[in-house]
Amino acid sequence: MHRVPFHRPCLGPDEEREVVEVLRSGWITTGPKAKRFEREFAAYVGASHAVAVAHCTGALHLALYALGIGPGDEVITTPFTFTATAEAIAYLGARPIFVDIEPDGLNLDVSKVEALVATGRLKRLRALLPVHFAGQGCDMDRLLEIAKRHELKVVEDAAHAVGSRIQLAGRGMVKVGTIGDLSCFSFYATKNITTAEGGMVTTEDEALAHKIVVASLHGMNRDAWKRYDSTGSWYYEIDELGFKYNLSDVHAALGLAQLKRADEFQRRRAQIAHLYSEAFTGQAALQVPQAREGVEHAWHLYVLRLRAERLRVGRDAFVELLRQRGVSVSVHCIPLHLMRVYQDRYGYRPGDFPIAEDAYSRCLSLPIYPAMTDRDVEYVVDSVLATVREQSK
Ligand SMILES: Cc1ncc(COP(=O)(O)O)c(C=O)c1O
Repeated sequence: MHRVPFHRPCLGPDEEREVVEVLRSGWITTGPKAKRFEREFAAYVGASHAVAVAHCTGALHLALYALGIGPGDEVITTPFTFTATAEAIAYLGARPIFVDIEPDGLNLDVSKVEALVATGRLKRLRALLPVHFAGQGCDMDRLLEIAKRHELKVVEDAAHAVGSRIQLAGRGMVKVGTIGDLSCFSFYATKNITTAEGGMVTTEDEALAHKIVVASLHGMNRDAWKRYDSTGSWYYEIDELGFKYNLSDVHAALGLAQLKRADEFQRRRAQIAHLYSEAFTGQAALQVPQAREGVEHAWHLYVLRLRAERLRVGRDAFVELLRQRGVSVSVHCIPLHLMRVYQDRYGYRPGDFPIAEDAYSRCLSLPIYPAMTDRDVEYVVDSVLATVREQSK
């Protein structure tokens, strides 16, 4: 039986060369490779500043920290995300305020954000934290407008959105990374480019970038990472408590090699998404993801939704049937308000966000990554269509 794993990273001789160079250099933690990765990533998204960090979770934590968000503050975000998004808010003692998603794009429903903010009920609202879910950009024009009107900061969770573009009023098509006050990317193993574990914060604000550099390494001053090389000094000051979120040169070396292939990866992901959508459009039991007008989707995930009324089995059984055919799929996301910790801490309850719950009950993520062969893609298509045929009412 042919098998298609949910993910396989695309690593080759360039990644090996870069990593071996670091291993042989005598400098394996944060150093010249991490600094070069920052410069090249900033150039890739068109940002003025990029700070490499250990993961996107840390990037989000640092971004909110740099904005001064603290105990009792409120931050609006989506429940249809990975726990890291809301966890970073909670790290600072702030409160994640969930707002339901739009039924098509599965991103924050901006009209609902607007309506909630307009009530004036959120007395400590400080920031909006949209997630570009699956790699599809949010409606940033409207979110920026709400933020401006209510003096809110905007931190983008761009974990899925390396390479995504969004049409913006007055700016044209813009890559995610220069839109909100701060953007946070992930280079986790399954992401569009990977450093195994890693993340990046980008911003146009030099002061925020500086704050994040310092906070990412225990609050030491800017060039503390040089303190063991011949140009560095053993002396450092600690003016504030920081965190340990720096990215090592071993990880950054992978990132440098991956970044060179980011556009090629992106094209292959879009091609696979196109092949899936072509095959599944018109199937009554399937709802294919639609790229919103004015966005260039990064296709980190291909989230297919089942139409339960057309099938004899639910999502869980459908996932199992695909697994039995050798196709590994996943589910994104389990809405956060259904998780005990968010219920116990913040009082959320099942039923609070019906659109997110409906999406969750019907969604599954198909394999989509550049290391897939044409045969893999064909096999996934055939397996999904065969399962639909067998299970249709
Ligand atoms: C939407 C979202 N935000 C944040 C993260 C956290 O990323 P990292 O694993 O780099 O900390 C993830 C990870 O999957 C994610 O999906």
